[in-house]
Amino acid sequence: MRLSRTFFCAANALTWVGAHADLLTVPTTPFTETGGEYALSDITGIVVDSRYADDVNTNGQTLIPPTLSEFAHTFQEDLRSVLMLELPIGMDDTRQANTIFITLGNNTGFKDAAGTYNYEGYSLEVDGTGIVIQGASPLGAWWATRTVIQAAVTGDGALAKGWGLDAPGWGERGAMIDAGRFYYPPEFLVEMCSYLSFFKQNVFHVHLSDNLVVESKYSREFQFNLASAFRLWSDDPAVAGLNRHANESYTREQFDLVQTQCAKRGVTVIPEIEAPGHALVIVQWKPELGLDDLSMLNISHPDTIPTMKTIWKTFLPWFHSKVVHIGADEYDSGLIEDYTRFVNEMDTFIREETSGSKQIRIWGTFTPKQGANISTTVSYHHWTTDADHPYWDYVQNGYNVLNSDDYLYLVSGWSPVYAQELQLSQIFDGPYGRPYSPITFDPEKVGDNPSRGNPHVLGQLAALWTDYVFDALHNAVPAQNLDRRIPSKSDTILHYTFDESNSNTVTDHSGNGYHGTVHGCKISDRALHLADGCYLETPLGSKGRDYTLSFRVKPTSTSPGTLFSGPDSIFAHGNGTISNMTLISGGSPFSLNYSLPLNKWTDVSLIAQGNTTKLTVGKGDSSSRMEFLAKIGINGDSFAWASIGVEAPLARVGEGFTGLMKNIVLRGRAE
Ligand SMILES: *[C@@H]1O[C@H](CO)[C@@H](O)[C@H](O)[C@H]1NC(C)=O
Ligand SMILES: *[C@@H]1O[C@H](CO)[C@@H](O)[C@H](O)[C@H]1NC(C)=O
Ligand SMILES: *[C@@H]1O[C@H](CO)[C@@H](O)[C@H](O)[C@H]1NC(C)=O
Ligand SMILES: *[C@@H]1O[C@H](CO)[C@@H](O)[C@H](O)[C@H]1NC(C)=O
Ligand SMILES: *[C@@H]1O[C@H](CO)[C@@H](O)[C@H](O)[C@H]1NC(C)=O
Ligand SMILES: *[C@@H]1O[C@H](CO)[C@@H](O)[C@H](O)[C@H]1NC(C)=O
Ligand SMILES: *[C@@H]1O[C@H](CO)[C@@H](O)[C@H](O)[C@H]1NC(C)=O
Ligand SMILES: *[C@@H]1O[C@H](CO)[C@@H](O)[C@H](O)[C@H]1NC(C)=O
Repeated sequence: MRLSRTFFCAANALTWVGAHADLLTVPTTPFTETGGEYALSDITGIVVDSRYADDVNTNGQTLIPPTLSEFAHTFQEDLRSVLMLELPIGMDDTRQANTIFITLGNNTGFKDAAGTYNYEGYSLEVDGTGIVIQGASPLGAWWATRTVIQAAVTGDGALAKGWGLDAPGWGERGAMIDAGRFYYPPEFLVEMCSYLSFFKQNVFHVHLSDNLVVESKYSREFQFNLASAFRLWSDDPAVAGLNRHANESYTREQFDLVQTQCAKRGVTVIPEIEAPGHALVIVQWKPELGLDDLSMLNISHPDTIPTMKTIWKTFLPWFHSKVVHIGADEYDSGLIEDYTRFVNEMDTFIREETSGSKQIRIWGTFTPKQGANISTTVSYHHWTTDADHPYWDYVQNGYNVLNSDDYLYLVSGWSPVYAQELQLSQIFDGPYGRPYSPITFDPEKVGDNPSRGNPHVLGQLAALWTDYVFDALHNAVPAQNLDRRIPSKSDTILHYTFDESNSNTVTDHSGNGYHGTVHGCKISDRALHLADGCYLETPLGSKGRDYTLSFRVKPTSTSPGTLFSGPDSIFAHGNGTISNMTLISGGSPFSLNYSLPLNKWTDVSLIAQGNTTKLTVGKGDSSSRMEFLAKIGINGDSFAWASIGVEAPLARVGEGFTGLMKNIVLRGRAE
């Protein structure tokens, strides 16, 4: 049973072509050293080969591929942000001394695992006069730039001299995120792509609609009120009412931004709209289309397939990938004939609607043996051997298969079956402590797996890396701050003492210069006087874990208010109905059984460590510590209380709160 498919695994699907002294990168880059090093500080510029500057590659998954020159500009930004190198970009048709020359070319070594010419391949040459990158395509050249940055990070700013040829073994490498059950802001999706791209992953599959699991004992009414979401927001009257969460959706403009920013880094977003199972949001919109389990569409209802065609017709023009995912997972096994008709009709419809520019993909659910006679133009996305055996069921029947076996699933929050966090050792050593690649459907029975070169295996949204430089590289990934780090000179990141009476600026005494700006509040007696919606603004957004956020606070009214708010979370004194201290993250409130005493000063610390978030109130012996817990599990039954990790909200202080605050200190560790 798939409770949630959120997982993040960066796959190493790169082959090793003639390895000698591999470059220390993730994944490792095959390289032959010739002796000595070249320091990147000697580079004076980037030169893009003028003959290929406007070339784009159309073989990849994306319909909006960047030009060689555009990739070079993104590389230029990364050299600045990661290695502090300010380099101009020039154009020329020959290499210049002490430059990074970016060109295209063909090399017989650019081959994937099936031995086919690979447009993502590249060669990298480092000698006494600089670096030459030769991509099989602009995308190949882009992956080479990731190698240059990683090798410079692990090599202390220098690259070994020598020559290497690198090409991915499989065409699809990446991760999938369940944005249906949990809303991720568009900026987060963009940062995920920066992260994936740094490790040469080229696919980010975004699951855009889903619901909590429906159990047979639920009443119809209960099912109608069960959480579900459809994350794309369109004003088209054809889909009016389908999406009832405008604020937790992606507009066309936002989804375009996600796709273009991802494409800019070589990552293709593959969108998924799920049906005929996991489709409660559609049945809540059109109740007549449901089976008894309202998360499943009644395909024999005359309006079901037309409704799905209307949805796809509305959103197909939004998507810039060659493959779109129609879900088709976990449906009623008594209705395989209907299921087959549904998938095949959607396949024909989507190919016709896009003049053949898009193909569809479905989750592995019913096999040909079970009677699912799906067109071979549809690719399968294998996720569990409980549903299928990809080699015998799909590959042998001529289908292409993407491997997402659930041994690398993560389920955020809680799951009785799946892990919450990736184990690095599992990633580096392989899921079973043995070599592993996208053809591994069954690690126990080698004969049940296709051969390494089988062209029907598209790739993997999962991982094996082979070395241990991860921390250094993790800190250097450009264009993202997923860990919500804040640069700081010492362990004290921010310290406001409010000494400045009636000033509009609050001095940060940490030495970091994160001074605050007062919007309408009074400052006196070393306290911030909060009333009438006034607030203090800081130049910070969120602080990732671990941290301790301490302050003194004295509410002078029971009316609810925000103590701290930021882009990822809110820390509130009540919510309008209750006065409990509450953290809000991902739109969900987590309340303590505690409220601040009125007209009294209280010392408060919000402390996050790993996946726990706690609150300490009071001082010394009389202090007490409480933990923010999430009630998670499967809908109405089998609940569990679990720890939650919440980032510290820092952008605004005191908005809507009535009372006083003093001595705000943020530290970079849990105390
Ligand atoms: C490399 O070879 C392929 C296939 O023959 C061709 O399409 C491509 O244009 C060549 N690339 C360059 C840079 O010459
Ligand atoms: C599905 O739709 C068909 C056709 O409208 C109808 O006859 C059938 O009763 C429906 N099934 C369920 C379970 O509602
Ligand atoms: C499967 O579908 C194809 C194409 O429609 C058809 O030719 C074939 O007979 C079907 N096979 C079975 C077993 O139904
Ligand atoms: C405040 O939280 C309580 C308990 O979670 C909830 O019942 C109530 O509806 C919330 N009030 C508001 C205004 O959100
Ligand atoms: C969206 O609105 C709902 C209902 O008002 C609220 O509970 C939720 O927190 C909002 N989400 C975001 C991301 O603002
Ligand atoms: C709050 O108290 C209720 C009732 O005593 C208890 O079930 C719940 O676990 C408590 N919540 C927290 C977050 O401690
Ligand atoms: C709020 O706190 C009270 C105890 O002060 C507790 O009984 C109640 O369950 C809490 N509400 C929530 C939503 O946690
Ligand atoms: C929290 O972390 C601990 C230790 O790392 C782990 O045992 C526990 O399962 C985690 N809990 C959750 C909810 O992830």
